Amino acid sequence: MDFELCTLTPHAAASHDADALILLWPDAADRADPALADPLTLWARQAIADGDLAADAGQWVAAYRLPGVRARRLVLVRCGDGGARRVRQAVAGAWAALKAGGPAGTLLLQLGALPPVAVAAAVQAIAQVSYRYTTTVTEAKPRSLRRVAVGVADAAAVQTAFDEAVAIVHGQELAREWANRPANHATPTDLAEAALALKKHGIAVEVMGPKEVAKLGMGALLAVSQGSAQPLRFIVLQYRGAGKRVAPVALVGKGITFDTGGISLKPAAEMDEMKFDMSGAASVLGVFAALARLRPALNVVGLIPACENMPGGRAVKPGDVVRSFSGQTIEILNTDAEGRLILCDALAYARQRFQPSAMIDIATLTGACVIALGHVRSGLFATDDALAQALLQAGDAVGDPCWRLPLDDEYAEALKTSFADVANVGGRAAGVVTAAKFLQRFVGDTAWAHLDIAGTAWTGGKEKGATGRPVPLLVRFLQQQAASLAAKPTPPAARTRRAATRRP
Ligand code: BES
Ligand code: MN
Ligand code: ZN
Repeated sequence: MDFELCTLTPHAAASHDADALILLWPDAADRADPALADPLTLWARQAIADGDLAADAGQWVAAYRLPGVRARRLVLVRCGDGGARRVRQAVAGAWAALKAGGPAGTLLLQLGALPPVAVAAAVQAIAQVSYRYTTTVTEAKPRSLRRVAVGVADAAAVQTAFDEAVAIVHGQELAREWANRPANHATPTDLAEAALALKKHGIAVEVMGPKEVAKLGMGALLAVSQGSAQPLRFIVLQYRGAGKRVAPVALVGKGITFDTGGISLKPAAEMDEMKFDMSGAASVLGVFAALARLRPALNVVGLIPACENMPGGRAVKPGDVVRSFSGQTIEILNTDAEGRLILCDALAYARQRFQPSAMIDIATLTGACVIALGHVRSGLFATDDALAQALLQAGDAVGDPCWRLPLDDEYAEALKTSFADVANVGGRAAGVVTAAKFLQRFVGDTAWAHLDIAGTAWTGGKEKGATGRPVPLLVRFLQQQAASLAAKPTPPAARTRRAATRRP
């Protein structure tokens, strides 16, 4: 992770020294004043006049050692209306064209007068496409892109959006790194060390082990971890950007460092992908890395229950009943529905200890979510309409979208059992919803949202790897929360600590 991101540089693309130059060309530039033309623009106009740059977004034309241009390699690419989506496509297309020519080295990403959202989209896109996982590959070449200068007409106008995008990239790359690491290089203990490394950036970090968690009475988390030789870790992070009396937002990330299914063992095919089952935890780490850079004026706590889900002589068995931190007993009918078990204890603990203004859990929770929404939108559930709206908007704004799904009480019928207060699985019907209904039992009256990222946290197949989602969504959401806290200095709901009761 040596991506020496980015600096903003004022408009002088032709004279900027770089190995490569990507010049984004919005449709509006076709109609610009022909008198205002440097060598680069003249060349672009010529290509357009000759019909070599068709009007569709993503079309590109490349050049080498163009007279009057200092960058050696050059790709001119259309970005349509200059909106975030088109800009992302244009950058990805231009990157593919550049990569075919060799390592990128230093790059000038020339955006001209594109608006702040486009600048943010371009920064995220170039990071996204140039990322390379190297940690456990001794023969891996290092990331070919070392430096990026982003060329803009008015740096002051885009500075805030740019800074946020850079922070998001750092957070997202931390999340990708940890999610990509194989399970033997990303144990619960390793995750705790990754969290402790954030201390030097001003994040407070506490790490609990099996003894502390047993003492707290987190029987559900203990049950999942008990089949593994790796000791569990329960990680608590705190970012303090506002006064002590301001209730924090709590983020709870599923940290199953490997999910075999336990005694309800998963099939062998693609089981390796279950190393990504701590992507929610990785995204929480990424968000804290971004917060440390951005320092928004709000308080955030992060909770990461981390353990392996393994079969074995000590493993929890289907039908076992455990007592959760909240006091509710749970019949574990399927040991592969483990995410909700570790989350329910973390959510109930977050509520009791921090009385947060809102709690959001992030989890690769159900295969059913992948069936419902595929790999485009994360599943969103929320008990609070304003919270849901804020998360939907944040996701759309940064190209990390989610979609709200229902929480009707009728769905909870499936979780009834004669042997405990609740069962950890319902039937196959609406599996994504029944998982959320299970979690809802543990959040009381705290405003709560649940993001099921099973379809969005990583991509499978040939391009297998973590995406770092939903770090962009969460960072944008928290920035927005800070802005609205600043706008209304004493919103009663956000500021007053409610008396929380241990047993709901
Ligand atoms: N980690 C999985 C969910 C998952 C599956 C994510 C596939 C991404 C791809 C989770 O722990 C799990 O196993 N869920 C079960 C729940 C079922 C037993 C009710 C599932 O979705 O099959
Ligand atoms: Mn599972
Ligand atoms: Zn899982």
